[in-house]
Amino acid sequence: MNPLPEDFIIQLLEKNPVAEEFQKFHIRLNACEKGFACSCPFHSETGKSCIIYPETHNFYCPVCKNGGDVITFLMLMQNLSYPEAVQILAQRTQLTVPEQSPEEALQLQQRRERCYAINRDTANFYYCNLLKGPDKKGLTYFKQRQLSPQIIQKYGLGYAPDDWHQLQSYLNQKGYSDEELLLANVCRKSEKGNIYDNFRNRVIFPIVDMHRHVIGFGGRVLDDSKPKYLNTSDTPVFDKGRNLFSLHFAGQNSPSSLILAEGYMDVIALHQAGFENAVATLGTAITPQQARLIAQYTEEVIIAYDSDSAGQNATQKAIQHFHDVGLSARVLHIDENAKDPDEYIKKFGADRFRLLLHHAESVLDFQLNRCKNDLNLETENGKISYLHRIIRILAGIGNTQTQEVYITKKAGELGIRPEILKTEIQKFSRKQEKRESHSDFRNIENFSHARDAINPQASRNLYQSKSEELLLAAMMRLPEQGNYISSQLRPEDFVTDFHRKIYNILCAFLPECSWFIPSLLGAEFSAQEMGRITGIFIYYHDKLNEQAVLKCIENLQAGNQPPPDKNNMSNDEFSRLIANKKKNTRLIY
Ligand code: UTP
Ligand code: MN
Repeated sequence: MNPLPEDFIIQLLEKNPVAEEFQKFHIRLNACEKGFACSCPFHSETGKSCIIYPETHNFYCPVCKNGGDVITFLMLMQNLSYPEAVQILAQRTQLTVPEQSPEEALQLQQRRERCYAINRDTANFYYCNLLKGPDKKGLTYFKQRQLSPQIIQKYGLGYAPDDWHQLQSYLNQKGYSDEELLLANVCRKSEKGNIYDNFRNRVIFPIVDMHRHVIGFGGRVLDDSKPKYLNTSDTPVFDKGRNLFSLHFAGQNSPSSLILAEGYMDVIALHQAGFENAVATLGTAITPQQARLIAQYTEEVIIAYDSDSAGQNATQKAIQHFHDVGLSARVLHIDENAKDPDEYIKKFGADRFRLLLHHAESVLDFQLNRCKNDLNLETENGKISYLHRIIRILAGIGNTQTQEVYITKKAGELGIRPEILKTEIQKFSRKQEKRESHSDFRNIENFSHARDAINPQASRNLYQSKSEELLLAAMMRLPEQGNYISSQLRPEDFVTDFHRKIYNILCAFLPECSWFIPSLLGAEFSAQEMGRITGIFIYYHDKLNEQAVLKCIENLQAGNQPPPDKNNMSNDEFSRLIANKKKNTRLIY
């Protein structure tokens, strides 16, 4: 049972409508019969499988089987625990979480506070060491890279001494235990069990979040040794995929656009040159979460990746993520013998860079220009490949006027009549639609046949497992029937452990309640399990009647063997079943 009172949970759900939460993450919703439909944020798809049911405060994707309520949604999107997500939603709507939750939540909060404190003291240590330490190598390095004292101070840049234990001793003296230093990843443990400083003889870039907490560090070598950068591993306060370097500066004052660069040094050089709206990822390719984060602060992003082919490929990937969250993007074209924004500004100055920004090309132009890459346009084959690539891109343009303009432009360039190009694009679009509906179907199949980690016993006991599901749904939807069901079935009659656990909890819960939603079980189950429970709750909604309930009770009562044919469906039969479901409606299960 949820340790939080029912009234509180309901209030929390009512004040934080799940549909609005989806929109906060820039997920586009379409109204549908049940509520809203959208592209599922938890698996990649072209369809709109994920459904939001405002009435019961749920969402559910029948393809990847993620689902739950606004709390589950936030847990999944931001990698939060149940108490953390509840806390955030409560705070936002001025609700107080009753009986300030169990020790676990408190402990986690304390561990996070400790990490923040360690990081702050560590940043301070590196900063003082850079400016006042005996070893001037770090300072010399930054000077050589033309960073001003002001920018060093603003970013709190530092230098980690060439020593295995200086930081450790400093922090021990301040009262932090070795375990805590390991937790914050400022120190590491050798195989022999010795603790040592993570960053040594490196210049340090502190990573700061929107609340001005230092959450981690990047450290660069001073020469050409490898690895060039070290970054803090994930800790209770740091997740590389969900933060961006310098967003605390760049995101201030609703900037009209953000510049996304590849490296720490690029961002700092940009900032120093007056472009304070620059951010960078933290040593990884950009993630969908980071794209959503950017979308919270601005409408447009200008991708300023390195001009090498790795940078250009990364640009293509970033474009996709930005598209998915509805951010408009442009691409900066750095040429003229500069590899990245930092080098460009050094060579040509801030004014020229501003021009470059001004002329950043649209995503469409970037993609069309890329079509020529590694093709020889002098040959017939080269020309045909080029044409195919162009058709594919033009077919993707949603706005017909824009499409018309580009068709005319490209037809002229290729020396063909625009009508011909247009016909080819239409043909391509028709084929594409077929392919997409196919691949969504494959998606469903793949997910269905994947090993079921939540209920591993279900596939071997399909018949009983389905009966269990229907009964659980009946108990949730018609709580007054719960007593009857529980009088007829012992927990042991349930074949799968997962369903038995739900059954036990419902049996204890239902006598006291006349109305039920899965959210009341939220504290007992993981986000993934909540997805499954929500699935059961939704799928059987219109399939519940007395006869079905009686039949399922009978199916589970000891000694009743299932008819063999239904228990072991072949993959073909199973696929057909799914195909039929898909045909009937895209929206259920
Ligand atoms: P770059 O190699 O382009 O570095 O890597 P940079 O930022 O331009 O640095 P300088 O100009 O050589 O000093 C871009 C980013 O990739 C990550 C870092 O976040 C870096 O800023 N990276 C790179 C790593 O995490 N590890 C590495 O070994 C190299
Ligand atoms: Mn660089």
